[in-house]
Amino acid sequence: MLKVAGAGKSFGGLQVLKNIDLTIEQGRIHGIIGPNGSGKTTFFNCISGIIPLDAGRISFAGRDITTLRADRIARLGLRRTFQEAKLAPSLTTLENVMCGSFSRPGKALKQEAWELLDSLGMAESAERWARELTWAERQFVQLLRAIIGKPKLLLLDEPVSGMAVKETELMTALIRRINAQGVTVAVVSHDIKMLMDVAEWVTALNFGEKIAEGTPEAIRKNPLVIEAYLGAA
Ligand SMILES: Nc1ncnc2c1ncn2[C@@H]1O[C@H](COP(=O)(O)OP(=O)(O)O)[C@@H](O)[C@H]1O
Ligand SMILES: [Mg+2]
Repeated sequence: MLKVAGAGKSFGGLQVLKNIDLTIEQGRIHGIIGPNGSGKTTFFNCISGIIPLDAGRISFAGRDITTLRADRIARLGLRRTFQEAKLAPSLTTLENVMCGSFSRPGKALKQEAWELLDSLGMAESAERWARELTWAERQFVQLLRAIIGKPKLLLLDEPVSGMAVKETELMTALIRRINAQGVTVAVVSHDIKMLMDVAEWVTALNFGEKIAEGTPEAIRKNPLVIEAYLGAA
């Protein structure tokens, strides 16, 4: 589904991604972990075309997307969410969800957006201004905005950060449901328990380098991972 080869990125003198090879298999939920500042968000920014790589290639669904613009990549079916949900504050919740579609706005799209909100018990928030939503609600809405675009691959950057236990459970169930509907998912999370629970495959980064990858069980036991991350948690 996604193949990254030799990815490198620096900001000034700071090398944030170092020669990363990573393959995301179709149909999987693929977790990415790493301490704060290890380059996870930068990695997603490069894959989704928001910032260019300095080195390496990215192919998505058999196509080289290394130099494509973010909107072109999104149209190919690679969508993402952000650590901090970026909604249009003076549009309604419903309109924000509709914004994620490439179809023409109309009755059918409105209905689809409403059904997505309803499936999360958020139907009564449909006409509220996005600026009135809580942090957690905004996280759900930006995910629905990505989903309405019918992605093949979804990148989720810290989908449960700042969430209470109940909200985390709801988000985890939603990620599973989306994946069961055929969407490949890559997820970055500080919540190791949630991530190890939901992911079938995990890649660990540290200081911009891939230090390990494997099943959650193998990653939990990996000495490099324990030293870099789990040990310090
Ligand atoms: N636009 C930028 N300009 C300069 N430095 C950046 C930029 N974006 C991220 N960084 C730096 O790159 C490193 C990795 O950041 P980030 O990718 O956000 O890590 P993570 O998501 O794993 O916490 C950090 O040291 C961060 O300060
Ligand atoms: Mg980050």
